[in-house]
Formats: sequence, C-alpha cells, structure tokens
Amino acid sequence: MKDKSPSILVLHGPNLNLLGLREPDKYGQTTLDAINQRLKDIGSAHGYRVDTFQSNHEGHLVDRIHLARGVNSGILINPAAFTHTSIAVRDAILAVSLPTVEVHLSNVHRREAFRHRSYLADIAVGQVLGFGQNSYYLGLLALIHELEGAALAPASSSKQG
Ligand code: DQA
Repeated sequence: MKDKSPSILVLHGPNLNLLGLREPDKYGQTTLDAINQRLKDIGSAHGYRVDTFQSNHEGHLVDRIHLARGVNSGILINPAAFTHTSIAVRDAILAVSLPTVEVHLSNVHRREAFRHRSYLADIAVGQVLGFGQNSYYLGLLALIHELEGAALAPASSSKQG
C-alpha cells in the first residue's frame, strides 16, 4: 500500500556519498546511510515520510527537485559545493516553490571565503550549519515545525524522553 504520510525530500550534493571517509576532521565519521536512516526515524516520529537522494551531478539534483512538485511538502538540502556555484539548483527550488531548509555539516563561514556565498541562502526558509550530522537533524525538525506553523516542543514533552 502506498504511504500517504506527508513527506519531505532530503537532498545531498556532490561528494557527500563519501561521508565517513571524506575529510573526517571536517565532516565527521558518520556515513550518509546512517544519517539518512536517522532522518527517516526522526521524520517518522513526527508523522512524515522522508525521501532521500544524493547525486554528484547538478542536473540530476535539478531533475529530482522537479519531481518533488506535488509529492513532497518541503525540501531539506545540503547542496555541498553546488551551494556556492549553482544558479540551476537555486532556480529549480524557486520553480517548485517548496519551503526549503539549507544545511551544512561544517560552519562554512569559518572556512575559505569562496564558501561564504550561498546561492540558496536568500530563498531558503533558513540555514543550519556547523553542527556536523546534527545540522541535518536540527534542520529537519525546523522544517517540520515550519510546515506545521508550530514552535519546538519543550524538552519535557519530547518524544525522545
Ligand atoms: C558542505 C560545505 C561545502 O562548502 C562543501 O563543498 C561540502 C560540504 C558541508 O556540509 O559542510 O561539500 O556543504
């Protein structure tokens, strides 16, 4: 039976398939599969299906964003290097007009100047960056609460206990 839960599309840009192996001092030792699984668990605890997709190719990310139209309620994206270069990814997000949260594992503002510019920053609902894998989880919670127009619950009522 088809899952009728509202859904969020999580997109990962180039080189993020190598998480866990790639520059672990900057990006951590957790694999992308582990992050995706945790995102699905967090989404499910809040009643959302989480669809995940990674590509090293700009056009494939653009195609996947187009498919979100009418299917997903929002987008969580770590565009990786395309953050700093891609007008095509920016335009695709504008085209589908879905609430989008931008995340980064590292604090790009503490790094090289070319990483300080984001082509998504001004069209995203918001950004979460610098918290390693937690940037994704915080970003997902922020997006869910944005979609529901709700404030984050106090710790005492958290489902995690
Ligand atoms: C990144 C930061 C980008 O500058 C870089 O190109 C990446 C990963 C991050 O998650 O910290 O590939 O998006």
